[in-house]
Amino acid sequence: MPLPLVTERLRLRPATLDDLDVWLALSRDAEELWYGEPRSNVDDARSRLLWHMANQEQHGFASWAVELRASGQVVGAAGLGHLADSEEIEVGYRFLKEHWGKGYATEAARASIAFGFEELRLDRIVAVTLPTNAASRRVMEKCGMSFVGVTTHHGEPSREIRDRPLMLDRRGAPLAGMAQTKPGSAAVRGA
Ligand SMILES: CC(C)(COP(=O)(O)OP(=O)(O)OC[C@H]1O[C@@H](n2cnc3c(N)ncnc32)[C@H](O)[C@@H]1OP(=O)(O)O)[C@@H](O)C(=O)NCCC(=O)NCCS
Repeated sequence: MPLPLVTERLRLRPATLDDLDVWLALSRDAEELWYGEPRSNVDDARSRLLWHMANQEQHGFASWAVELRASGQVVGAAGLGHLADSEEIEVGYRFLKEHWGKGYATEAARASIAFGFEELRLDRIVAVTLPTNAASRRVMEKCGMSFVGVTTHHGEPSREIRDRPLMLDRRGAPLAGMAQTKPGSAAVRGA
């Protein structure tokens, strides 16, 4: 399963500096949702993009550019990354606002998770989100993940939103040191 990852409607490929405009738009759409206003400027977006490009080079995975197969338009970013201050690998996704609600995040996240397990032979993959981010939680559920508890992470690239419930993966073991917050909320196996 080498890159690019091809799904029914999408192609996930390593990002390049040509994706800068979309990367900025993705950040601003997400920030509007999270904070009520866009915050990133083009320099912030460039640093993030360069960081993902370096991750791809160094680790063989990153947040990838997501294109529509039908048109080649880049409509989002999705992929795998190191969860800040932990040994865990997280799946992440963001799409341009005008393309929300079409199932793209779920399709891209599933492909990213499959790449992580089948190509990278990862033991597990986690995902985190703000408690208020219902769409993101739903994407996780549709990928076979379920809520296991609340944890705190500090670090880049999203320092302000590291107090988040944590969802994971096909093995279901809670993260070390993580508070189990709901009885009976053990993670479900099988993405
Ligand atoms: C989160 C995000 C990626 C979802 O993208 P998407 O392509 O719309 O996701 P999908 O269409 O695959 O699935 C969204 C699901 O959430 C549901 N949903 C959307 N808004 C919701 C809300 N406010 N409350 C409950 N469910 C909601 C949708 O109905 C859909 O579920 P369904 O298929 O059962 O109907 C998109 O909203 C986004 O880019 N947000 C900004 C970046 C972000 O927050 N990324 C995640 C960081 S953890």
